[in-house]
Amino acid sequence: MNVKTYLVTGGLGFIGSNFIRHILTHQSHIGIVNLDKMTYAGNPVNLKEFEGHERYRFVKGDICDRDLVDDIFSRQKPAVVVNFAAESHVDRSIEDAAGFIKTDIEGVWNLLEKSRTYGLEKFIQISTDEVYGAITEGAADENYPLKPSNPYSASKAGGDRLAFSYFVTYGMPVIVTRASNNYGPFQYPEKLIPLFITNALEDRKLPVYGDGRQRRDWLHVVDHCEAIQYIIEKGAEGETYNIAGNCEKVNLDVTEMILDILKKPKDLISYVKDRPGHDRRYSLDANKLFALGWKPGRNFEEGLRETVEWYVKNDRWWRKIKSGEFREYYKKHYSWRLEDKE
Ligand code: NAD
Ligand code: DAU
Repeated sequence: MNVKTYLVTGGLGFIGSNFIRHILTHQSHIGIVNLDKMTYAGNPVNLKEFEGHERYRFVKGDICDRDLVDDIFSRQKPAVVVNFAAESHVDRSIEDAAGFIKTDIEGVWNLLEKSRTYGLEKFIQISTDEVYGAITEGAADENYPLKPSNPYSASKAGGDRLAFSYFVTYGMPVIVTRASNNYGPFQYPEKLIPLFITNALEDRKLPVYGDGRQRRDWLHVVDHCEAIQYIIEKGAEGETYNIAGNCEKVNLDVTEMILDILKKPKDLISYVKDRPGHDRRYSLDANKLFALGWKPGRNFEEGLRETVEWYVKNDRWWRKIKSGEFREYYKKHYSWRLEDKE
């Protein structure tokens, strides 16, 4: 059988590692080359089960490294690039945006430059619903104006439009995807759901920003991975596809659901200073993708329960993270999060 190669970048992170697991498990004709810089968010343990797998190869490196990317293209001859690699956490971008500009814009440019001479079948740029900014009413479709409001989302908007420009200017087979908030196994415990699950398990406070009435649309990470593969197979070049969970929730409600599942008291909730420039609500209109034939299949209540169970069972995974880099970072930048239990 002819094996088609996907170059997946950022494949040791949350969504990238779930995508690689999904492909290696369900698509026997696809091989993966995973290029990951192994930042604080890139964890080799996430894909340990695939070490030595005949269709999986890992390369440690930076998407901004021209020679390395060139070498990967020459040797591995990927048919498809799926670019997950990014600095991805809004709070960190507010502290220091430098790495965001570098990876989320310059890194995308470097991959595009190398890709355009290699005759790819598809270049998938993984963007985000945050590029639309806060949506006060209704939902953003793909033609909604881009109004990113923090350094992370602004840098993602840069990469998003840069990728599109390579379709228009050079005829590259680019597709951009914009997904809503993902949740599920292997998410770094700085994001809302894994932070709150693990804090609750440690009987620490759950730091709710502002009044906790902000809204997010939740998409199970496996649904997201299925959607990306569907778009690679069926999506049209030059198009952008929103990927929604169709499950809008108030942060405080998600917080209470987590505490209920874990049978922990509500007084673990601690209202803290709001995130600067905090987007009040995200909402996606994903009818374009639904019309193409894909819809999310997982129910949030079940998905959240399974996710909580995953963190309960895999406590060594997150305890190691929380006692290392995470702890040092938060002590330095977010002492208010740790002050309840030191
Ligand atoms: P993550 O932070 O968990 O993982 C990012 C990965 O990229 C890590 O493995 C890291 O080592 C790697 N990386 C960072 N800089 C790199 C570089 N210069 N070169 C190579 N590798 C590098 O992020 P995630 O939550 O899995 O998000 C993946 C992608 O999906 C990002 O592009 C993000 O913007 C997008 N996205 C995320 C969500 C979400 O809810 N998490 C929603 C929509 C879109
Ligand atoms: O919408 C897609 C985006 O979702 C992705 O592009 C980003 O990579 C991803 O990090 C995520 O961004 P958010 O800022 O929405 O996710 P986060 O988990 O950081 O926060 C979710 C909501 O919870 C947000 O309203 C802020 C709030 N929050 C978050 C944390 C970490 C809190 O109230 N307390 C917290 O401690």
